[in-house]
Amino acid sequence: MTRHFLRDDDLTPAEQSTILDLAARMKADRFGHRPLAGPRSVAVLFDKQSLRTRISFDAGIAELGGHPLVVDTQVTHFGRGESLADAGRVLSRYVAAIVLRTHGDDRIAEVASGATVPVVNALTDGFHPCQLLADLLTVRERCGGTAGRTLAYVGDGANNMAHSYLLAGAVAGMHVRVAGPVGFAPDEAVLDRAARIAADTGGSVRVLIDPAQAVRDADVIATDTWTSMGQESDGLDRVTPFLPYQVNKELLGQAAPDAIVLHCLPAHRGEEITDEVLDGPQSAVFDQAENRLHAQKALLAFLLDTAAGERR
Ligand code: CP
Ligand code: NVA
Repeated sequence: MTRHFLRDDDLTPAEQSTILDLAARMKADRFGHRPLAGPRSVAVLFDKQSLRTRISFDAGIAELGGHPLVVDTQVTHFGRGESLADAGRVLSRYVAAIVLRTHGDDRIAEVASGATVPVVNALTDGFHPCQLLADLLTVRERCGGTAGRTLAYVGDGANNMAHSYLLAGAVAGMHVRVAGPVGFAPDEAVLDRAARIAADTGGSVRVLIDPAQAVRDADVIATDTWTSMGQESDGLDRVTPFLPYQVNKELLGQAAPDAIVLHCLPAHRGEEITDEVLDGPQSAVFDQAENRLHAQKALLAFLLDTAAGERR
């Protein structure tokens, strides 16, 4: 069975911790790890736009000694009539891993069903697990660890980031609170899965409506855009109900005094987060963005090492 990383809960707590340890070592010795030397190629495919994911995978694969193939799928046959399972099967003959940003989770699952190399989720409608590895690395750096820390995510509780905070936070033993307006709560199946994981790791998960209650005494405050890619014309009011969830000085004042602030970016300054907070002393947002690079390098090294172990 080829090992993929489609959701945050595809890693056990021990595996997540191993990857974060490796990411920290790779950050400290940035050009000292070359597991893709050969070079081995990695396909990085985009059905949706990206800045950070695109450049951090491109740079990271090169730093690992590999050859990145970064492709916008609109110029290919990918998903245009050809079965996605066949595409995964073909690409596996060329490259050591496939990284994909796409729409529905069914699409990446179909690619993985045909692939014989690891498939990595670089964001889907449901999850953003690579982002969470970077976020957890940042929490480790700023808060001295993840287990037992409280993370409050405020905003669109039904989006990919909310789901990934629930799952990855639970795997990391964190107490995760998600607060969003009525009608923007996390998927029940994801919430149940996160609760089951948290029961084993000593963490917890909670869904709230009141943003002040969510951030009270929290160690980490996180938010994201109120309108994710693909939701621009879904007919929902994605501003008015979200206004009480803006991460501003007043809301931050109700968290722990040394709480850090995370945002996966791109930020809509003045909407989900104010300039004052994003550029303020408690913001860890730009370290978080940098950590995409280190965390993804570690993830690829881990998956390729695991794949090599399976072949041995
Ligand atoms: N945070 C994130 O995934 O950014 P991009 O959409 O720019 O890749
Ligand atoms: N929730 C956002 C994250 C962007 C990195 C989106 O899916 O557009």
